[in-house]
Amino acid sequence: MKVVHTIQELRDQLRGQLRVAFVPTMGNLHDAHLALMKMAHQHGDPVVASIFVNRLQFGPNEDFDKYPRTLAEDIDKLQKQNLVYVLFAPNEKEMYPEPQEYRVQPPHDLGDILEGHFRPGFFVGVTTVVLKLFSCVQPKVAVFGKKDYQQLMIVRQMCRQFALPTEIIPHETVRDPDGLAMSSRNRFLSPAERKEAPRMARVLNHVRDRLRAGEHDVTAIEAEAQRELAGHGWKVDYVSVCRQRDLKAPTPPEVKAGEPLVVLSAAKLGTTRLIDNLEI
Ligand code: PAJ
Repeated sequence: MKVVHTIQELRDQLRGQLRVAFVPTMGNLHDAHLALMKMAHQHGDPVVASIFVNRLQFGPNEDFDKYPRTLAEDIDKLQKQNLVYVLFAPNEKEMYPEPQEYRVQPPHDLGDILEGHFRPGFFVGVTTVVLKLFSCVQPKVAVFGKKDYQQLMIVRQMCRQFALPTEIIPHETVRDPDGLAMSSRNRFLSPAERKEAPRMARVLNHVRDRLRAGEHDVTAIEAEAQRELAGHGWKVDYVSVCRQRDLKAPTPPEVKAGEPLVVLSAAKLGTTRLIDNLEI
């Protein structure tokens, strides 16, 4: 695996490659990231990964400075896995040599709800860096995890609306055996919080079971799910049942007619903010 830090080196390495499969990350790699690399390998060749903690997508009071940076360990993991051909690990000066004044603005009705509501500017930062990374890597396909469901939808929509030549491939959420969705932020959980953390996935499963069983009072189901988390010390941002196609609230007739739904959640355990979702 070649590790490159500049856009120029990256372009030199990839010259003439027409089937690049790309996995963008912010590093601190775990098994879910490695599963995305594997999927990339099934859809293209060579596989290119990136590690860049993107300041643009962090709010002023978020954990940009605290975000785990473990490049040496990450390189080690990728080398052992032996699927990635080039790792692009730019520093901030390389990605943002001047203030990034041209930015992608996701539509408000998708970009400013759920994660976008609680993290203003987040999806502007994500789409801007993803577009820029795509411009550097020029991938044929790129793999994104369903764990970040709204991010996946927005990136897909961006590619479609800009007619980018990159196909977005979704990967299922990868979980620890107790159901907790893998995340770089899980390492911030205390032992007691780590024991509590799988409740979020259990609550989502319970919401799914109730909807599958024919209950259709979505508001009541959401409220009860939030109470269940809050009752165990979580600070809940949302538990929200949405239509898969646009993340809008389903109407009662749609719920009854079996509209494809997804339940999404975000909540803090201590100082660690976790997100998860489940398709129904
Ligand atoms: P990061 O959180 O590092 O995630 C990189 C990719 O791994 C994303 O596509 C994310 O959805 C996926 N991923 C993380 N945990 C996962 C899990 N448990 N199961 C399945 N997929 C998982 O998402 C980002 O970085 C950034 O926003 C980025 C797209 C790189 C732009 O900066």
